[in-house]
Formats: sequence, C-alpha cells, structure tokens
Amino acid sequence: MDDNMMRLYRLRIVNKKRVLSLESGPIPKPGPKEILVLIKAVSLNYRDLMIHDGLIFATDGLIPLSDAAGIVCETGKAVKRWKAGDRVASLFFPDWLDGAYDRNYGANALGGNTQNGVLSEYVVFPENSVIGIGHELSFARAAALPCAALTAWQAMFVRTRIVPDERVLIQGTGGVALSALQFANAAGASVIILSSQDDKLEKAKNLGATHTINYINIPHWDKEIARVTNGKGVSFILENGGPGTFDRSLNALSTGGRIAQIGVLTGFGPSSNLMQLQNKNADILGITVGSAYHFMEMLKFISDYKISPVLDKVFSFENTQLAYEYLRSRAHFGKVIINVHS
Ligand SMILES: NC(=O)c1ccc[n+]([C@@H]2O[C@H](COP(=O)([O-])OP(=O)(O)OC[C@H]3O[C@@H](n4cnc5c(N)ncnc54)[C@H](OP(=O)(O)O)[C@@H]3O)[C@@H](O)[C@H]2O)c1
Repeated sequence: MDDNMMRLYRLRIVNKKRVLSLESGPIPKPGPKEILVLIKAVSLNYRDLMIHDGLIFATDGLIPLSDAAGIVCETGKAVKRWKAGDRVASLFFPDWLDGAYDRNYGANALGGNTQNGVLSEYVVFPENSVIGIGHELSFARAAALPCAALTAWQAMFVRTRIVPDERVLIQGTGGVALSALQFANAAGASVIILSSQDDKLEKAKNLGATHTINYINIPHWDKEIARVTNGKGVSFILENGGPGTFDRSLNALSTGGRIAQIGVLTGFGPSSNLMQLQNKNADILGITVGSAYHFMEMLKFISDYKISPVLDKVFSFENTQLAYEYLRSRAHFGKVIINVHS
C-alpha cells in the first residue's frame, strides 16, 4: 500500500444491517492543535455491539470503537503538550476534560452517532483529547481503560468513595466488572461477584473476590446475598444488568447503600419499587464513563496499586470480525483486544 494510505474499518449498512468493512483511506493530517497517533491496540466494549446491531445511532460509514492506545507520530504547529514518541490513550468523551458531565458531551463520544472512532491504523485527535499513559502499561492494557475501567472508576471513587471493609456487589466478569473488582480490592472492600459460569467465578476468586454466585444456578441471588451478609446486604452495587437485575439489586442493598447504574445488559428500563429505595435511604448514581481529569486520577491509582487490567484474547486487525463475535459469545473474562500495529 502507498505510504500515505492506511487501513481502517467502517460500519456500512448492507441490506438494512450494519456490517464491518475493511477499507483503505489516506492517513489524516493533524490541524494546528491536533496530533496524529499511530494506533497500537484497541479494545471492544459491549457498547460496540449495540452500535453494530443498530441499538445506538451511527451514521453509515462510521469508524467504530472508542478505546485505543498508541504513539504520537506527528504534532500540529500549535501543540505544546505532546511530542513524537509519546504514549497516549483515547478519551471516550473528547470534550469532557474536567468538571461535571454535560449532556452535550454525549453526541461526540468516539465511535458512535456521527463521531468517528479508533478502529483505524492512524487517528487524529485534538491535543487535549488524549491521556498520557507513561511506560508502565503495555498498549494492550492501556487500551482496556478508556471506557470500561474509567466507568468503574467514576462509579467507585468520584460519585462516591469505596472504603475499606465495605461490601460491594459486582455483576458479571466483563470489562467494567473486572476493573471494578480490581479497584474494590485495592480499596480494601470485600467483593461478591456474579457470573453465569463457574470457571469465571474461580478466576474472579483468584483475583480477590470474597464470595461468588452463579446467577444462572442461583437466580434468587439477592436472597443468597442476604444469607452470606447475615441479612445486612451490600453497601455498593455496580449495576450492569438493568431491568433484569435492578429489583434484585434493590433487595440486596443495605440501608444507606448506593447503586451505580451503569449497564443495560438486559435491556432498557426498569419500573422499580421505589418505596424500597426510600425505605433504605439509598442512592442511585447514574454513571457515564468519565472525564480526562478522572482518567488521570485513575492512572495514578492503577500505578500506585500496581493494577494490571485483565485481558482475555488478543485478535489481529484482520480478525476484527472474530473479536466482535467473541465478545458477543460472552466467553470472555475481562477485555477483548485488537492488536492494530505490533
Ligand atoms: N454507563 C456507562 O458509562 C457505561 C460504560 C461502559 C459500559 N456500560 C455498560 O455496562 C455493561 C457492561 O459493559 P462491558 O463493556 O463491561 O460488557 P462486557 O465486557 O461485554 O461484559 C458483559 C458481561 O456481563 C455479564 N452479564 C450479562 N448479563 C448479566 C446478567 N443478567 N447479570 C449479571 N451479569 C450479566 C456477563 O458476565 P458472565 O459471562 O460472567 O456471566 C457478560 O460477559 C453494558 O451494559 C454496557 O453498555 C456502561
């Protein structure tokens, strides 16, 4: 291929369905306040399946995915923060640098709506819309952070603060869930984790979970949580399920507890018994990933506690379609990675 050209994937609408299409295009040029990044690794999130499947709007021809890590290879004339060779990761909301979330940030989230993402050999970013990742993490592990880990971080250390000895419930063993497990361990909390598969529960135990429940074999897991906590319940819940899990979460919550509402794995909704919320003096925290400032705080924590993001399989760029299928199969434990440049 011509030196000025690169490979990239676009989501094309074919027979009313979105399909991944491997294409080529010119390597983009950074503007004065932009940088060109050679993408080394990207990771998949459940959101990327929803976009692929048409559950979230995306324009025809959109470049998908939000999470990448790579090397700065060219800087615009006015760029002061970065130089060629710096190692960086993408920011899920390119406009959310600091302060509280503004709903206008949502439309520009990478890899959805009309905003191209990172499934490409090179990407141009505004200079403030990437985070320096230092040298401790591999590109693959850094690519695991921008959406999943940052969401867990905001839920546990920004909107509330997990403290030692508190009881935390985490649903599933995907990207958000295992980041939360690692963060909760580092904070000294005890973790109950739910999974559909016993082998994953064993792995979660090895990562520090104190109690495990198979939610297929024990569908009334709220009762099991009451049993193992001597009726007290858990004080923090990372709610990944949505309507199919929310009422059980409310049952499992202790008085004064908080639910971080993150996921929609069982759909959108729910209509819940709000009297429970009242009677427990509980809080629901709505979470949307995090800001650049949160990302930097999280990186410091990851470095201080020597946390290594949990990766499952690493796919080649050519096998991106297989990576999507693997995530969809729910065989994964932690993050699914695509190696773009070795
Ligand atoms: N609010 C935000 O800003 C934000 C950010 C990131 C993600 N999310 C949402 O968070 C959820 C997880 O995202 P992800 O990228 O971490 O997904 P993921 O890596 O694909 O993990 C999904 C895992 O969740 C578990 N799961 C599925 N149904 C479940 C249920 N009914 N009860 C308990 N666990 C269940 C499964 O774990 P097992 O295989 O162990 O059963 C599954 O493998 C998604 O709904 C996603 O849209 C929200």
